[in-house]
Amino acid sequence: MNSVAYQLFPGQGPEGLRAAPRPVPRPGPTQLVVRVRAASFNRRDLMLMDGTYPLPATPGVVPLSDGVGEVIAVGDGVTRVAVGDRVTATYYLHWLRGPQRLAHVLDQYGANHDGWLAEHIVLEEDSVVIVPDHLTDAEAASLTCAGVVAWKTLADPAPVLPGETVLTVGTGSVALFAVRFARLRGARVLSITSSAEKAKRLREIGADEVIDRTELPDWEQAVLDRTDGAGADHVVEAVGPPTLAKSVAASAFNARITLIGAFPADGPAGDPFLGRYLSIRRIAVGSRADFEDMNRAITAHRLRPVVDRVFPFEAAVDAYRCFREGDPFGKVVIERG
Ligand SMILES: NC(=O)c1ccc[n+]([C@@H]2O[C@H](COP(=O)([O-])OP(=O)(O)OC[C@H]3O[C@@H](n4cnc5c(N)ncnc54)[C@H](OP(=O)(O)O)[C@@H]3O)[C@@H](O)[C@H]2O)c1
Repeated sequence: MNSVAYQLFPGQGPEGLRAAPRPVPRPGPTQLVVRVRAASFNRRDLMLMDGTYPLPATPGVVPLSDGVGEVIAVGDGVTRVAVGDRVTATYYLHWLRGPQRLAHVLDQYGANHDGWLAEHIVLEEDSVVIVPDHLTDAEAASLTCAGVVAWKTLADPAPVLPGETVLTVGTGSVALFAVRFARLRGARVLSITSSAEKAKRLREIGADEVIDRTELPDWEQAVLDRTDGAGADHVVEAVGPPTLAKSVAASAFNARITLIGAFPADGPAGDPFLGRYLSIRRIAVGSRADFEDMNRAITAHRLRPVVDRVFPFEAAVDAYRCFREGDPFGKVVIERG
């Protein structure tokens, strides 16, 4: 029996994405085969297409790190899941728990191991995660990258405390998850965005106050004003170097800034710390244990990821274009009918 998979040939733009038939895969002893129901995009998938991601895509790899589907076959040694389970997988194949090691980043679905833009995917048993039951397939396909990194930002190494102020920068999926998770933890959430429409939607998903950076380019001052001069205790820096200096200036004494975004800096900057005392750490997604902790919270609070648009499997090129050019608010998802 045949199965269709998209293959990515990096550095060729959308032309480098080609659908091709291949046999339905069979699992090795520690693997399982999943019939894919939905998959979603992250910024890294554009970087992989463009050849700008630090881990180059293997030519011909099946793209996308995020997806969900039903287990249809398991290898002889598989015990963690069974045929019929609805599962997703971790971003890194082998980071199960504890601190991240260099070796963990070298194996990634959708980069150098076949990912989710296919009718079937082979997963390593260790990487598999059961998804919360209350989520639709589109929502469940949205958790792996943006969800887990937002969760880890606010949970680790010390959880955000009730009453603390969390500032989110940008409205990519990382920031949207962070708004939700910060509210679950009882924090006050301030968010930076670029339009009145996005500001309205941010308030709807839980932001207490939203600052439109097109109206208030000095948004760091607006954050200080709204916190009686104290600044934010935690910054979810989901843009990166272009806004880092403003995030520092918007921070409280001894704040924690988590640098997630990887947009390139605009130009030479002076002292990025502005003489302040604070910690900045740069993190990358999270382990399987982080993913499972997040799913427990999502289940307990019946929380749902924000999904912007859903495309059919046959329209994968249009979905890539929408994610790159359509300024989505929430996940762009591909669903199989
Ligand atoms: N380290 C990790 O584990 C990890 C995981 C996921 C993503 N990332 C990185 O995190 C970043 C965000 O990813 P994402 O998927 O959440 O969203 P995304 O779609 O890349 O976010 C785009 C949003 O960021 C804001 N933005 C972009 N450039 C900006 C600039 N120069 N100044 C101010 N705001 C700007 C805009 O929001 P507004 O229009 O609302 O201002 C824009 O809609 C990306 O760089 C991505 O590569 C890292």
